[in-house]
Amino acid sequence: MSTAISQPIRTIDVALGSRSYPVWIGPGLLADTARWRAALRGRHALVISNTTVAPLYLDRVAEGLDGLHWSSFLLDDGEAHKTFANVGRALEALAQLGATRDACVVALGGGVVGDLAGFSAACWMRGIDFIQMPTTLLSMVDSSVGGKTGVNLPAGKNLVGAFHQPRAVVADIDTLATLPDREYHAGLAEVVKGAAIGDATFFAWLEQHAAALNARETAPLIEAIARKVQYKAGVVARDETEQGERALLNLGHTFGHALETAGKYTVLLHGEGVAIGMLLAAKLSERLGMSGEGDTARLHRLLEALGLPTAIPSGMEPAPLLALMRLDKKNLAGTLRLILWRGVGRAEIVSGVSEADVMAVLEAATR
Ligand code: NAD
Ligand code: GLY
Repeated sequence: MSTAISQPIRTIDVALGSRSYPVWIGPGLLADTARWRAALRGRHALVISNTTVAPLYLDRVAEGLDGLHWSSFLLDDGEAHKTFANVGRALEALAQLGATRDACVVALGGGVVGDLAGFSAACWMRGIDFIQMPTTLLSMVDSSVGGKTGVNLPAGKNLVGAFHQPRAVVADIDTLATLPDREYHAGLAEVVKGAAIGDATFFAWLEQHAAALNARETAPLIEAIARKVQYKAGVVARDETEQGERALLNLGHTFGHALETAGKYTVLLHGEGVAIGMLLAAKLSERLGMSGEGDTARLHRLLEALGLPTAIPSGMEPAPLLALMRLDKKNLAGTLRLILWRGVGRAEIVSGVSEADVMAVLEAATR
């Protein structure tokens, strides 16, 4: 990652009245302890991280916690550990610490850590503060912002959770230097998603800066993160609990979750599923006359330029994928409800989508 020219810290506010909070984006933020320490109100802190991230970055956070009663709770690495059992262990760690109502949970890691830590904070004494310190690109641009927290059940992903907003988000882009390439590119899919849903100008900017983003150049990377966060912050401020507009953030997710599940969460990363899913949603939109061939082609080119998969992995069949799509949380009363688009930057919620149309798109994509 190039860091030749020092970059200013970007601050984006998530405007939620008395629960508003800043998202800080830039280099050196974990070590900028004075900045984030001010968001801690009490004397107790529990850092929740995992066995991959803690050895890399816990030291920097520890410096900022000097003088407080604090401890850490480390998850094993992976989605399989985003469980109720681990929430129980995190709460036990808060009890051991003697955490009072003004205690703070610090989530240091990717979306798995952030979701579980946020949910633990929501549960302890019916809700204490937490700070998100996202260390993956996906968590910087998506999961750390907006207050969705939760864990998985054997019955499905993210079935249990709470809306619980953080006090601050500390997105230190220096941590991305150790992020594996595949995880980095999966995060770029969530950046494309924001542009595809609601910002055609940003989409064009991404088309122009794909090579720089692939090279992890600092200035374009900060700009991309900030623009996606700005977009998401606006949506969250208008529709915190997903009564309407926030559902648009799920563009590509109904197809994507089906693909992730069909691959038993080992074939595709979440962002990769979203990339393929967005393209399938674009193809379906085109089939329904909502958008043109040119829009689908632009999305296809951008995803490819950013090193993302665009084809359904071999071995996955249309009928089982459709069956998985029927289970999506957005569906109402047995009909498919999908996020589709009217071209770049114009997504919308469409109810009553016919299974025959979805099947036709899946069949064409698996031929
Ligand atoms: P992740 O948390 O599993 O992190 C991906 C991998 O990168 C892990 O192996 C992790 O240990 C490693 N890692 C993290 N930071 C690193 C670093 N700086 N250097 C080296 N390795 C590092 O996955 P993710 O993609 O960040 O998040 C996915 C999770 O986020 C899923 O559970 C998904 O459901 C959730 N999610 C939540 C929301 C929300 O709004 N709450 C939105 C999108 C996704
Ligand atoms: N990732 C979707 C949302 O935060 O609503």
